[in-house]
Amino acid sequence: MTAGNGAGPRPTYSFTDLEEDELSGAGRIVPSGPGAQGEVDLTATYLGMHLRSPVVASSSPLTGQIASLQALDAAGVGAVVLPSLFEEQLEHESQEVDRFLGLSSDVNPEATYGYAPVFEDYNRGSVQYLNLIREAKAELDVPVIASLNGSTTGGWTEYAKMLTNAGADAIELNIYQVAADPDRGGRDVEAETLDVVRDVVGACDVPVAVKLSPYWSALGAFAQRLVGEGAAGLVLFNRFYQPDIDLETLAVGPRLVLSNSEELRLPLRWMAMLHGRIDASLAATTGIHEPTDVVKVLLAGANVAMTTSAVLRHGPGHAATLVDGLRAWMEARDYASVEQMTGSVSQRSVTDPAAFERANYLQALTKYSSEYVT
Ligand SMILES: Cc1cc2nc3c(=O)[nH]c(=O)nc-3n(C[C@H](O)[C@H](O)[C@H](O)COP(=O)(O)O)c2cc1C
Repeated sequence: MTAGNGAGPRPTYSFTDLEEDELSGAGRIVPSGPGAQGEVDLTATYLGMHLRSPVVASSSPLTGQIASLQALDAAGVGAVVLPSLFEEQLEHESQEVDRFLGLSSDVNPEATYGYAPVFEDYNRGSVQYLNLIREAKAELDVPVIASLNGSTTGGWTEYAKMLTNAGADAIELNIYQVAADPDRGGRDVEAETLDVVRDVVGACDVPVAVKLSPYWSALGAFAQRLVGEGAAGLVLFNRFYQPDIDLETLAVGPRLVLSNSEELRLPLRWMAMLHGRIDASLAATTGIHEPTDVVKVLLAGANVAMTTSAVLRHGPGHAATLVDGLRAWMEARDYASVEQMTGSVSQRSVTDPAAFERANYLQALTKYSSEYVT
């Protein structure tokens, strides 16, 4: 297993690096609930679910394979979020199905069900996904959260019901969009997003968390409205993979760069500002690499700390480093439980609430000048 220093652009981890003890969890004590008297209680509550630890593996290729899911489970994560099923993929499937049904009914209306194998073939994306949910549920000890990724209203939101029927304990709805249309203002974009959330919430009977980018105006108010539409949790923040220009070929393409701990500060601020203000769970995502990052987001008000880049870089066993490091930090400071920690440094709890808002700006600039400008 290789370990990066947090700065490299490419993952240093590959599935073939999985070592046997990592898969079995051999030699490792996985947190299972409140410890014996005197031990810290690492359990957390997220989307109404009782988790054995607040470290959650967020969507990534690592959560798309049973072997690495088992390794994350063995390392002590509290839950896993599977990779997303994408709106484009589901719309395509549904068009193919319509096309197929149209064709088959022209040929022989009674024969539609006889074409089931062909149907499955068209439907491969979601069929495989449903199998992944079933297998993950059978193999893992922790809740399995399925993920849908899209931004417009449409038939694809109905797939939420299928994910639930396959056994998903919750749905994470990733609203991934770049609002670039000059003719559509923020009000329209927000309205459509609220419609999508309402559709997905209405389609399934498990909790739905909404994963957002930070690029919304008046995020506090928008968060409130999402909760009003039935969102049981907010996952902040989605990380956009910005395009880049290759100067040799002049081609434009995505360039995937893993995050680092510095990027934690944006979700950290919003955990602190939303904690206690909205009636929903909060999950921090982006920039959680070290045990201290987990500690910070919990103190700020997150119910769970989600991690992707760090486990891609160091392997699934890194989740154990996060869980063990959190426990050690809590023991050293006499925290009895995650619940006790959660939000204890949120905006509502600190003596200087403005530190999370604008006043911080002036202070930061002044400090910068005195430190760096002579
Ligand atoms: C290779 C890769 C694949 C990802 N796939 C998904 C996905 O399918 N759905 C999703 O909601 N987020 C996806 N993400 C985003 C992560 O779940 C996470 O929110 C983001 O990487 C920020 O967390 P981090 O700083 O711990 O990496 C992916 C990230 C990476 C690096």
